[in-house]
Amino acid sequence: MHSNNENSAEIFSSSNHELSLLLETIRLQSGIDFSHYRRSMLTRRISARMATLGHKDIRQYHRSLIDNRTECDLLVDAIAINVSSFFRDKIVYGLLEKEILPELIERKQSSKTLAIRAWSAGCAAGEEPYSLAILLQERLKRRIDPWELFLFGTDIDQKSLQRAATALYPRERLEQTPLGIVDRYFAAEGDEFRLNDTTRAMIHFSHNDLTSAQTAAPGASIFGDFDLVFCRNLLIYFDLDLQALVLKKLIQTLAPGGYLILGEAETPHALPDNGLKVIDRRHRIYQKILT
Ligand SMILES: C[S@@+](CC[C@H](N)C(=O)[O-])C[C@H]1O[C@@H](n2cnc3c(N)ncnc32)[C@H](O)[C@@H]1O
Repeated sequence: MHSNNENSAEIFSSSNHELSLLLETIRLQSGIDFSHYRRSMLTRRISARMATLGHKDIRQYHRSLIDNRTECDLLVDAIAINVSSFFRDKIVYGLLEKEILPELIERKQSSKTLAIRAWSAGCAAGEEPYSLAILLQERLKRRIDPWELFLFGTDIDQKSLQRAATALYPRERLEQTPLGIVDRYFAAEGDEFRLNDTTRAMIHFSHNDLTSAQTAAPGASIFGDFDLVFCRNLLIYFDLDLQALVLKKLIQTLAPGGYLILGEAETPHALPDNGLKVIDRRHRIYQKILT
C-alpha cells in the first residue's frame, strides 16, 4: 500500500506542466492565483481531492474541472485550509494582553489619539480578529466609548467570510478560550456558540487576496496605517518569493510603532530588511521602529 505522499509524488511526477495548466484553470474560474503556493502543499491537497473523487490521472481530473464551478470552489476550499480557533496560541495572546496592548494603549493615551487600527490578514472565520476585539474590550475594561477602533478581517475564501459574519462556532474552535471569556462573550446555541453582537459589530470583514498586486490594505481601511497586523499560519503556504512580496506589503501598511504578528511556522528569513525590531523571535512578533 502507498502512503499519501508516495501517491501524490506518483500522480504529479511527470506532470508539473499539467499542474500549471490546472492552476491556470483555477485562476480563470475563481480569480485566485495559486501558482506561487508551495508545490508540495498543492500536490498534497489536489491529490487528496482527486482521491476523494476516485481520480487517478491529473489530466482527467483537470478536464473535469473545466467549466465546473462547484468542483473548482471545492478545490479552492481544500487548498485554502481555513482551520483556525479563538486565542490560537496561548503564549502569543498572553504577550498581546500583557505587553503589546498595554504599551500601545499607553502610547495612544499619552499622545491623546484614542484610536487603534488593526488588520487580521487571512482571518479564516473571524476567530483571530474577534479574539483581538475581546482582548481589547477586556483591557479597556469594556469602556471603549472614548476609543475609535478600526478592526479589519480579510480572507480570500468567501465561505469563511460568511461564517465570520454569522459568528457561530463549534465547541472545538473555543478550546483555547478561557472559560470566563466564553461565559461573557458567547451564548450557547444547540451544540455551538454564538459571539455577542457588540463584538461582532467591531470587525469589518472583506475579501482580499494578499497575493494580488492590485491591493495592499483592505479597501475599507483606505490607507492602512495599522497598529497591529496579524498574518498567521498562511505565509507557510507560499513559496519564498511570494512570502517576501506579501511581507513587504504588510510592513508598508504598518504605522510607526505598529506590531507585525506572524505565526510560529512562518519563515522569518523571508522578512526583508526594513526597520523592524524583534519583540519575540520564537513567536515571530516584530515592531516597526518608531520614527
Ligand atoms: C490556516 S488559516 C489561518 C487563520 C488564522 N490566521 C489563524 O492563524 O488561525 C489560513 C487562511 O488564509 C487564507 N488564505 C489563503 N490564501 C490567501 C490569500 N492569498 N489571501 C488571503 N487569504 C488567504 C485561507 O482562506 C485561510 O482562511
